[in-house]
Amino acid sequence: MELHHLGGLKSECFKTLDFDELETLFRCSISSLIQEFCSIHFLVLFLGVHFGLEITKVLYIGIRRLVEFTVLNNSPSTDEPKPRTWGGFWDIFGEMLVDFLDIQEGQRVLDIGTGGGSVLYPLSKKVGSSGRVIGVETCDHCVKNTNAEIKRCNIRHAVVHCMDAREVDFEDHSFDCITAGFIGWDDYFDFQTLAYKKSDDLMSAICRLLKPKGQFGLSTWLLQEDLDWMYKFLSAQAIESKRNYSAENETGWTKILSLAGFQHIQGYTRQALFTYDTLDAWWNEMMDYNWPVTGENSDVITESIKAAAFESLQGRLTETGGITFRREALFMTAIRQA
Ligand SMILES: C[S@@+](CC[C@H](N)C(=O)[O-])C[C@H]1O[C@@H](n2cnc3c(N)ncnc32)[C@H](O)[C@@H]1O
Repeated sequence: MELHHLGGLKSECFKTLDFDELETLFRCSISSLIQEFCSIHFLVLFLGVHFGLEITKVLYIGIRRLVEFTVLNNSPSTDEPKPRTWGGFWDIFGEMLVDFLDIQEGQRVLDIGTGGGSVLYPLSKKVGSSGRVIGVETCDHCVKNTNAEIKRCNIRHAVVHCMDAREVDFEDHSFDCITAGFIGWDDYFDFQTLAYKKSDDLMSAICRLLKPKGQFGLSTWLLQEDLDWMYKFLSAQAIESKRNYSAENETGWTKILSLAGFQHIQGYTRQALFTYDTLDAWWNEMMDYNWPVTGENSDVITESIKAAAFESLQGRLTETGGITFRREALFMTAIRQA
């Protein structure tokens, strides 16, 4: 039975049918149902006029569930390519940041400091194809790689621009939500003395771009066990090293957001463990950071230093030769004044 024939049936036929029977009844004509899905709303209107509201409601719910069920079960989603990100902790905490925000389908979101897209991709799922996610990133090769992934995965409602968030020329109040995953605020704000070091042109840009009642969400590191380990190890090897992150705190962030006029300021702390499959995989991630205070990694971190690092970590290896580290992040969410 095809959907467009339903209008010719007597309403009594359907009064005794429950949802399962409806599903069985319609399953045989599912391909035409899908084709006709766009006209369901029109059909409901038509049935409503002819058969009354109650029977139409049952029909409508039955048809919708059936079509959703079939579309989901036949959908090519399992074959959809998964965007490649920086992986590891980035993905874990990127998902968390997006989950702390109340993001609706169709919204327009700005992601500051997109990097490998660990925040951008979950955002793009939340806003759906009727929404838009715009990333801004100052690192040229990050922009190229992430845009290439966006294209490969056929995500049409997301893009990354190579630009500094402080200098973007998007219209005032043009975003429902702005995210900033691990971009660091210590250039502006001293989280020990809780005082500004200089004028915060990044926060000014965020306030200009957010709609009234728009949301801002950020993540920042409280602890990176593996970076702390590297710092201590290199220092013990007499290599003067950078720490490569500076821990921020909720008190400081509450002050920054209050001063910027945000309301409903909330902070959340979350920890995660991540196991790198091999020591080499972890080491490669560590070598994405530049450690020596002067010069490059390649100048001072020799093969023998690497071998000594691996030796020191032998006692921590998992049964399969992986290595687990802990990280802790702070998430802040806030709403711009109306
Ligand atoms: C540590 S990464 C985090 C990437 C991503 N947000 C995530 O959570 O996985 C921070 C990125 O922010 C970028 N960034 C920092 N300040 C920025 C600014 N003012 N405008 C645009 N990008 C910025 C850096 O280039 C870097 O790639």
